[in-house]
Amino acid sequence: MMNRYYNPVRTIEGAGSVGRLPELLEELCLDSGKVLVLAWGEEVFSLPVFSRLSGFQVRKEVFNASNPTVEQLFEMYRKTKDFAPEIVVAIGGGSIMDVGKSLCCLYGKELSGADALRELMEKKDYGVPGAWWIGVPTTAGTGSETTCWATIWDPERDAKRSIENHRNYAYAALVDPELAAGMPLKLAVSSALDAAAHAVESYWARGTNCISRALALQAVRTIMGNMDGLFEGKTEAHDAMARGSMLAGMAFSNTKTTACHSISYPLTMHYRIPHGAAVSMLLAPVLQMNAPGVEGIEELMGALGVSGAPELEKKVRGYLERSGQPSTLKEWGVKKEELPNLARLGITKGRADNNPVDITAARIEKILEEIW
Ligand SMILES: NC(=O)c1ccc[n+]([C@@H]2O[C@H](COP(=O)([O-])OP(=O)(O)OC[C@H]3O[C@@H](n4cnc5c(N)ncnc54)[C@H](O)[C@@H]3O)[C@@H](O)[C@H]2O)c1
Ligand SMILES: [Zn+2]
Repeated sequence: MMNRYYNPVRTIEGAGSVGRLPELLEELCLDSGKVLVLAWGEEVFSLPVFSRLSGFQVRKEVFNASNPTVEQLFEMYRKTKDFAPEIVVAIGGGSIMDVGKSLCCLYGKELSGADALRELMEKKDYGVPGAWWIGVPTTAGTGSETTCWATIWDPERDAKRSIENHRNYAYAALVDPELAAGMPLKLAVSSALDAAAHAVESYWARGTNCISRALALQAVRTIMGNMDGLFEGKTEAHDAMARGSMLAGMAFSNTKTTACHSISYPLTMHYRIPHGAAVSMLLAPVLQMNAPGVEGIEELMGALGVSGAPELEKKVRGYLERSGQPSTLKEWGVKKEELPNLARLGITKGRADNNPVDITAARIEKILEEIW
């Protein structure tokens, strides 16, 4: 096996790291000094760091939708293109970071509407990004601050799209656990399980490598070893989740994800199951399917702290239920007769074919039945 790994994102992690934003902006020697800050909520702008940005022309925008759509991305582009920022600072969960990084690929292009944006996404003709971006996660998390792709949802066309550009890694990531510590428990749990899935899937992905695998194991240990602490509201648990999701992001930034993510997308699009919750329900059945084909499966089980898939299923169910979230598709409102269609839609290019074991719609349907 040949190992290849690349990730150019400067990463600063730890309590208070958002305070490093002014020095990063200085370091960039911007010409116009125009900075667009996208935040998940108005309260973000009361952080003390905003009083230290007087040397820059700052435009503030709130974007608080989850799972950004083509139309929502176009709307943010339309609103901000004339401001022409040199850098976008995205402070929020995966949704806002995905919007922030996508905007960088759109500035400098004349897009007349959402359909023109769809066409660009199909052609993937982004070229050099029109702005830099900095990711500041407030969930823990998607790891989007360390990846060069963004998920853009297109429910109107029943499609999950993506903007991927290897020239569009963040200039920097500021991973500050204090920003995520106030998350509602449901979001804390679903985003932590999303991060665990990134690490697990990176470990067994067809495109894995020894660096991602080392990062992935450490991420899994960090996240799973601190899940109980999240329920107790422990500061150490929030610190650990910020670190764990960052490590998981670094791991899967080079390997992409596999069957759990592939199968989850239609569940989120059709039934609005939050991304992390949808992915986490698939972890145990996919582990059961993949285990025989995964090199070093014992080490992975050890990091997960389980003896096998049934124990993992019990654990994940417990986390979802304790945080007040359904743990079966039925409880999320999925109709049984929809499973064959969801199974067919669960084969996502670049994810399903990255799974260590071949998957078919028939196999996915069985998995969906198990978690129904
Ligand atoms: N690009 C990538 O590498 C990548 C990886 C995984 C997931 N994703 C995408 O990320 C999205 C999910 O992101 P997420 O799980 O971080 O949730 P999210 O970004 O969708 O946030 C969920 C909700 O919580 C709010 N929120 C964010 N931070 C908060 C905080 N600290 N306190 C209170 N509320 C807060 C948001 O405004 C939003 O309404 C999906 O669209 C998924 O496809 C992208
Ligand atoms: Zn994910």
